[in-house]
Amino acid sequence: MRGSLVAGVDRQLQDTYVSLVRLAPSLNLHDPDRLDREANGEVVISRYQFPDSFIQIEELAFYDLPTLATDLQNATTPTMRGQLFKYLRDIQAVSRITIATDPDHPIELTDAQLAALIEAPDGQLKLNLPVRERFRDTPTPMRVLVRLEPLQLKSAALGSDPTLAVTYVARSLGGINNTLTNLQNVLLLLCAIGAVSAGTGAYLLAGQALGPLRLVRRAAERIGGENLTERVPVPATGDEVEALAQALNGMLGRLEQSFEAQRRFTSDASHELRTPVTAISGHASYLLRRTNPTGQQAESLKIIQSESERLTNLIASLLQLARSDSGALVLNRAPIFSGLFLREIARELAPLAQAQQTTLDVSGDDLPFEGDPDRLKQVIINLVGNALKAGARTVTLGSTLDAAGQQMHLSVQDDGPGIPADQLERLFDRFYRLEDSRSRDQGGAGLGLSIAKGIVDAHGGRIWLESDLGQGTTAHVQLPIGNVPVLDDDDVP
Ligand SMILES: Nc1ncnc2c1ncn2[C@@H]1O[C@H](COP(=O)(O)OP(=O)(O)O)[C@@H](O)[C@H]1O
Ligand SMILES: [Mg+2]
Repeated sequence: MRGSLVAGVDRQLQDTYVSLVRLAPSLNLHDPDRLDREANGEVVISRYQFPDSFIQIEELAFYDLPTLATDLQNATTPTMRGQLFKYLRDIQAVSRITIATDPDHPIELTDAQLAALIEAPDGQLKLNLPVRERFRDTPTPMRVLVRLEPLQLKSAALGSDPTLAVTYVARSLGGINNTLTNLQNVLLLLCAIGAVSAGTGAYLLAGQALGPLRLVRRAAERIGGENLTERVPVPATGDEVEALAQALNGMLGRLEQSFEAQRRFTSDASHELRTPVTAISGHASYLLRRTNPTGQQAESLKIIQSESERLTNLIASLLQLARSDSGALVLNRAPIFSGLFLREIARELAPLAQAQQTTLDVSGDDLPFEGDPDRLKQVIINLVGNALKAGARTVTLGSTLDAAGQQMHLSVQDDGPGIPADQLERLFDRFYRLEDSRSRDQGGAGLGLSIAKGIVDAHGGRIWLESDLGQGTTAHVQLPIGNVPVLDDDDVP
């Protein structure tokens, strides 16, 4: 780029030199007043002819090229060369003519450049040099054409011959430098714009392509066992994303069907079992009350009665689980005062606790929240029941509000044997119990915690266990407080 721009300048310099050769005899360059007139603001003809060029001419009078070349060849030692160049410089200085260059700071060649010029086969050098313009304090970087050739400086009509002269024709490189700087800035700007728009375009395109996938993903994350009827949106993109969404929905449909079949089986089986179990229990009661069974017969009848009671409970539990699976667990929400609620449960369970010398405490304030009191009572009763079955000496019921005042926190803490950490989650699975003899002896079916979880989930809450082996267990129930009326202190019972 720069090379071709410089080549253009070199051509202009050659042209300028050609016209200088043509015009020199008529420019009256030897006029001693020329520079003074120019300094006084007069437009002298030489400046007028070469407006953009800077020219300097030094006549080497009494020399011709072959002699000069021979002199240079003969100057074999550095001293001799030094003497030759000094001599040349002296005659250059006295004969110097300047057009637009500063006569006080002329263009000067180094010894090597001068030697190269004398030896140059085409009699010229092209150099980049700082050149002082007239009336300027600082040098300008210029392209300089230097030629060593005889030049006709006075009109031939006056009888003078051409003299050998060193002629410098210079032009500023400022234009080229400006062009290159501008070009560089434009390129940088284009690169920056290109990078930014490529980035933005890629971002937008990727967003457009991934947008539908994101929608599908969000929907898929939302869907679980409780809301299997929902489907992911099918974006009409006509590509793999659409096919994927359709495949997901097909899979959800099949899952829903098999879940539903399983739930209906549990529900139907429980229903079907209810009547015969009630009949068994009723007949056993009848026989006990209305006949006179022997001691052994009476014993058997009592076992039949208690076992059918257990079966009734189990069936009720299974029905409830089937109902919460299908999302049919209907909550009758009402305002609840936590302290009151827990004290009532404690009062109800007191005889059971006393029977095994367990202390049942209630701590915490009366804080209002909203929920289904009967279902939540079922939850807490199961948790306290578990603590009692585990053989706790002390069971403490507590209630607190979280810092933001949005979550009610109920807890049942016991000092029983505790639960191994790896079992804590699994206890919420159906029919899952600890493998210790106590669990078996107490006769629970292992459904209590799963039912409790179903109820708490339906409230939009969370239930979990914390336990230290040998220290005791705490069951936590966290519930959103819901729409509780703002109460004055007086209203709290
Ligand atoms: N507080 C507790 N301390 C020790 N073990 C517990 C406690 N709570 C629950 N468990 C264990 O978890 C099992 C499951 O409890 P649950 O689901 O209520 O069923 P169930 O009470 O019918 O056995 C219990 O059988 C018992 O082994
Ligand atoms: Mg239980």
